[in-house]
Amino acid sequence: MIVCVCNNVSEKKIHHAVAMGVSTMSELREQLDVGTCCGKCAGCARKVLRECMEKNSTTASGLQNFIHQLHFQPNPLAA
Ligand code: FES
Repeated sequence: MIVCVCNNVSEKKIHHAVAMGVSTMSELREQLDVGTCCGKCAGCARKVLRECMEKNSTTASGLQNFIHQLHFQPNPLAA
């Protein structure tokens, strides 16, 4: 889905930018020029950015729990 028509920025491009470390609207604006022309896409871009950040946060949290479980499982060979 195209988020910013003026600068041809898709939802996928925003997801990629977040994966590369973008975490704020300012950074998104700097990297992809989102919202720098007519500005009508700002709300939608913010929503996509927030959803992407939440998704990454959930994934990171799940990964941390998994690593924690691995680290603290008793070693069956140690007994
Ligand atoms: S649609 Fe994004 S600046 Fe116009």
